[in-house]
Amino acid sequence: DALWCVVPAAGRGVRAGGDRPKQYQSLAGRPLLDHTLERLAAHPRIAGLVVVIAADDPHFSAVESIGGKPLIATIGGGERSDSVLAGVLALPAAVAPDHFVLVHDAARPCVRADDITRLIDLAGVGEGGLLGAPLRDTLKRADADCHSTATEPREGRWRAFTPQMFRRGALARALALAAADGIVVSDEAMAMERTGVMPLLVEGSEDNIKVTTPADFALAEFLLGRTR
Ligand code: CTP
Ligand code: MG
Repeated sequence: DALWCVVPAAGRGVRAGGDRPKQYQSLAGRPLLDHTLERLAAHPRIAGLVVVIAADDPHFSAVESIGGKPLIATIGGGERSDSVLAGVLALPAAVAPDHFVLVHDAARPCVRADDITRLIDLAGVGEGGLLGAPLRDTLKRADADCHSTATEPREGRWRAFTPQMFRRGALARALALAAADGIVVSDEAMAMERTGVMPLLVEGSEDNIKVTTPADFALAEFLLGRTR
């Protein structure tokens, strides 16, 4: 059975600059967010989408469905984790607490369908997991003046991507608990780790970049064409 996906799109996109948040800037002639939502909606294992937007967002054009799948819009919060929790709470009641839900950054339009499928199949047998990739480069510790003070082991270190997938109830509890503890978690897996869960790392394509800086748009445009 298909899963719902929460798409946090309530960020300000400070590092990307521009006249509007990056999710609304043009990528191959259309808003970046449209690419992400359409790609997710086209996936046969995804049942519907919750997109989380900023309270003062003048750019989102409300639609009730995309690619034949229901699309619910809701208002996010100050941190990404606040937005994701708002999205999880806005899921339809039919999504039971023990159902898995996906969370995917609006800013990752190049996600591959086969990576989503592998995440669902591999992480769905346990308590969930996330796409990621083992570190490729040598890892340095830097001081405030950008001098390298040590070399960190690369073995056993991964970069975390999205989608991430956890059970609806457990994810809502973990995110609420982190917020209550005053801890800003940078992804869903971090919230789950704090509750004792060990999310499965599923190796995904490095093409699944998070558009972050102005230069990333040209790279994402290139990758869009080859990851479809
Ligand atoms: N996001 C969100 N709510 C927030 C912050 C971020 O929904 N309060 C979303 C962003 O819209 C993005 C994803 O989380 O799709 C990943 O965050 P990031 O890449 O950091 O985006 P921004 O926070 O918008 O960018 P920046 O940090 O450069 O301001
Ligand atoms: Mg951010």
